[in-house]
Amino acid sequence: MNFVAKTLYGLEKVLAEEVITLGASNVEPVNRAVLFKGDRELLYKVNYCSRTALSVLMPISEFRIGSKDDLYKKGSEIEWDSFMEADDTFSIVPVVNSPHFDHTGYAGLILKDAIADHFRKKYGRRPSVDTKNPRIVINLHISNNLVTISVDSSVIPLFKRGYRKEQTTAPLNEVLAAGILMISGWNASVPLIDPMCGSGTFPVEAGLIACQIPPGRFRQFFGFMQWKDFDKELFDKIRTHADSGIRKSPVKIFGSDISGEAVRQAETNISRAGLKEVIDLKVSDFKDLRPIDENGYLFLNPPYGERLQPDDPDQLYAMIGSALKHNYPGHTAWLITSNKDSLKKVGLKPKEKHILFNGALECVLLKYELYQGTRKHAQPEVLPES
Ligand SMILES: C[S@@+](CC[C@H](N)C(=O)[O-])C[C@H]1O[C@@H](n2cnc3c(N)ncnc32)[C@H](O)[C@@H]1O
Repeated sequence: MNFVAKTLYGLEKVLAEEVITLGASNVEPVNRAVLFKGDRELLYKVNYCSRTALSVLMPISEFRIGSKDDLYKKGSEIEWDSFMEADDTFSIVPVVNSPHFDHTGYAGLILKDAIADHFRKKYGRRPSVDTKNPRIVINLHISNNLVTISVDSSVIPLFKRGYRKEQTTAPLNEVLAAGILMISGWNASVPLIDPMCGSGTFPVEAGLIACQIPPGRFRQFFGFMQWKDFDKELFDKIRTHADSGIRKSPVKIFGSDISGEAVRQAETNISRAGLKEVIDLKVSDFKDLRPIDENGYLFLNPPYGERLQPDDPDQLYAMIGSALKHNYPGHTAWLITSNKDSLKKVGLKPKEKHILFNGALECVLLKYELYQGTRKHAQPEVLPES
């Protein structure tokens, strides 16, 4: 079977590595997605265990069209009975870029009619559209003349892990946070510090990685559970096997924030994820925070000046650079921001740069290596003041 796991821009490579580890073959990263082959067991596994997939689609039909009518004709010929019943509810998510359609929604309406007529002809009844709580979600992708119709095996996006209740005004998407942790190569062998933790997304995702807790563990629902062929026994087996790898965290994880309210929210989310024993929290200005060990990884998601408005972003970013340089020798720091102007005030030379998107905001993810005083390059490379 062919599958398409969707992800965020910049996370395609880490997602490809994840699906390979889970047993996929013919793995091909493409823009914001990874194509792969596997069986039903793998489909369940990717939904339950992948930290960087947003959803997993199963293509059921691919064809070319020369007109709008072709979409109706070929759409009604699909063996819809294999995926849904005449009394099911469904919705269609159209993604259309084609000269045949001026309006994306219109292509969705044509496919809806094709499905309804397919069932009506056969059974005298038809499934009905439910955009709020459908049992089956169908993805309609049209690129020029090529139509790909898929069923969505996740339905509720996989970043909705189920542990988040509280959120600050600018939380990171869970998939983005997990993806950054995976890009960094942090493998729970050294402590992790998030000194601007907000609602705690980095600490929680790091805690899940450290304890090998599958990210799907808190979810009650995946789209494939509503499919006609849902194999509950197989899914229970996969869940039990994945959960059997859960262990105590080998390292401590720390989160702090200048805002007491943010720390309170992080505390709630950490409790809900069952990670109270793993993550320590503190209210602190980053400039007053001191490391807890000789080495470790810091992850920083400071305000960008978009959704959160610091009084003086330049001053904040200059403080971050100075605190990293003076207080964290021996550490590795990763910082994500969309504020490229204030970023210059950090004043340290990054060792790596990645482009990622936080929602619609194009961001850079930078790696800084903060050397020990005893190493050859005694200090991190400092950029000249601009
Ligand atoms: C973009 S939010 C972080 C969101 C977080 N990653 C999440 O997923 O919820 C930035 C956070 O930086 C905190 N902050 C701003 N200035 C700070 C400082 N000087 N020291 C520590 N935290 C600070 C804010 O209170 C805010 O919670």
